[in-house]
Amino acid sequence: MVNGVLRSGVPPVNARVASLGGSPIRELLRISTSPGMISFASGSPANELFDVAGVARSYAEVLAAEGPRALQYSSTEGEPELRARIGAFLTAKGIWSTAEDIIITSGSQQGLGLIGQVVLEEGAVVLTENPTFVSALQAFALGGAQFRAVETDEHGMVPEALEAAIVRHSPRAVYTIPTFQNPTGVTTPRERRNELADVLARHDVWLIEDDPYSEIRFRTEPHSPIASDPRLAGKSLYLGTLSKILAPGLRIGWIRGPQEILDVLTTTKQGMSLQTSTIDQLAALHWWEHNDLEEKLDPVRAEYMRRRDTMVDGLAHALPEGSTFNRPDGGMFVWASLPEPYDANHALSVAIADGVVYIPGSHFYVADPVPGTLRLSFVSTSVERIEEGIERLHAVFTYDYQI
Ligand SMILES: Cc1ncc(COP(=O)(O)O)c(C=O)c1O
Repeated sequence: MVNGVLRSGVPPVNARVASLGGSPIRELLRISTSPGMISFASGSPANELFDVAGVARSYAEVLAAEGPRALQYSSTEGEPELRARIGAFLTAKGIWSTAEDIIITSGSQQGLGLIGQVVLEEGAVVLTENPTFVSALQAFALGGAQFRAVETDEHGMVPEALEAAIVRHSPRAVYTIPTFQNPTGVTTPRERRNELADVLARHDVWLIEDDPYSEIRFRTEPHSPIASDPRLAGKSLYLGTLSKILAPGLRIGWIRGPQEILDVLTTTKQGMSLQTSTIDQLAALHWWEHNDLEEKLDPVRAEYMRRRDTMVDGLAHALPEGSTFNRPDGGMFVWASLPEPYDANHALSVAIADGVVYIPGSHFYVADPVPGTLRLSFVSTSVERIEEGIERLHAVFTYDYQI
């Protein structure tokens, strides 16, 4: 492709956007669904744990009670009652919020895309964890952003490194997933969060805090978002979603932020999609108001924890000697590192031939990818299938894969 021309006979398109290309992770997710494959690749919640009957009831009752309203266009910023419900939910998490502080988005991915358009622009620098969530990079890259990695350790971003990176790169924003991070499963403890907030409070920079996983916690206390620090109120954009709590197919997410920027985000959303589906918002609200979230989540958390334990306990047996991996306190992912000179990308084709798939960690880096890393999701596969998948991984690294 040259100067926005795809090939002769096709009129020009936005050259930068057309050159971004698709995600190799999407291709792996396609392989995940092939017959007989055991997938540790997908970031999807477990099908069998969805509250299908409860959601069906909510749709039916919403349609029965207010059919025409549910089927009509509605506001770009979202249904006021749902925004108020989310406001109460966030207030309980430590960020005092009302409906006015929130706009609904079609999943938090749309929120990331909107932020990419509104907050970022050509050449704007975003500091990120390294590795980080690839689809956020994609969303921000559409707005022309560039990325710089902040050093991270087993507790997330290192505050001194964040300060140094802000001074060095003059970023427009810092993007972080401090709770059960995707892809590493790492969670930033309270004290570290305070230190990061201290740094952010000193600089003229946006905090983009992405928090899809914090409700999927296993026997740990809830974590207060970094954005709950009152010093950051005017410069933080906090994203949440029902995708991991209720169902990703609903496409209900939100952004909590300062009013001025919510107004611009809303106008931008209007130009892209007018609104998020009215009936989906009303059904989600109905479900939320007629169910005890904790009661609904507890069995899901218990099952995910069983799956995490099965995977983590099995990895010691499956991965080559000298490998390391964590036992995340929640979320969906285990992060593993094979010793040198193993390469998770090379091993993947053997793994796929043996009927098991994971995502090589190198896809998630903004700089200096580490070839021996891999992300393994433990949520969408049953305990029995995880055990079988672990045996297949064992065969890959013991017999089938030659370094
Ligand atoms: C860190 C992170 N942010 C955002 C999203 C997007 O979620 P949603 O389904 O709300 O668009 C995901 C989905 O996996 C994610 O892992």
